[in-house]
Amino acid sequence: MFYKNQLSRRSFIALAGATGAGVLAGCSKPDKPPEDPTTAIEILARQHGVICRAVAILEEIKGGMDAWMDLPPEVIGGTVEMVHLFVIAHHQQLEEKHVYPVFDVDKKVSGLVGVLREQHTAASQLIEILRGLCRGFSVKDLEKRRAMASAIHMFCRMYRAHAAREDTALFTLLRPMMTPKAYAELSSGILRAEAEFLGQNGFDETIRKLTDYENILGIGDLASFTPNPEELR
Ligand SMILES: [Fe+2]
Ligand SMILES: [Fe+2]
Repeated sequence: MFYKNQLSRRSFIALAGATGAGVLAGCSKPDKPPEDPTTAIEILARQHGVICRAVAILEEIKGGMDAWMDLPPEVIGGTVEMVHLFVIAHHQQLEEKHVYPVFDVDKKVSGLVGVLREQHTAASQLIEILRGLCRGFSVKDLEKRRAMASAIHMFCRMYRAHAAREDTALFTLLRPMMTPKAYAELSSGILRAEAEFLGQNGFDETIRKLTDYENILGIGDLASFTPNPEELR
């Protein structure tokens, strides 16, 4: 007889049943796709990465204008429009709707959040000014060039400090002050807002555009940023 005794036969049946159920469960399609485990801070960090690259492009444009270089107008206008769309219309709105209100309940960092909100307004105004200057821009128009260089300088100087404070003095507080459930809801809310605003491949498309502009300006290769300290000797 195959089964040594009744007990082992029962055990086998029970085991087979359990395994079978497991196999079936493994083969069946889940009702809904698994939740994206990307967290709020990860999403905000990668958006700040986009902003950091856009700031580097703007500074490269300003450097080129200061040096009287002939810059492709489509790169200037394209970068400004990208910043308008990604930073002003998307990233800032997302923070104002989903992130800053978390800190409005506990007033400990209300001073910082107040300054961050004011800086969003200043950033919107600077980008609007830049959009206006880009219309009919001519490299020979000295006044426009000066105004554009000043606006780029003001935007980049402020935004670098702004994003760095958010990363080190605000976002780091998010997780400890929220329950795991509230943090998971915040993360999925931010992820959903990003998908709705940028579309399915919107983030990749933004990176592709950034890369194109970086390549045109000669800063597409990360190694191009590496200095040679030997030059200082
Ligand atoms: Fe912000
Ligand atoms: Fe931010």
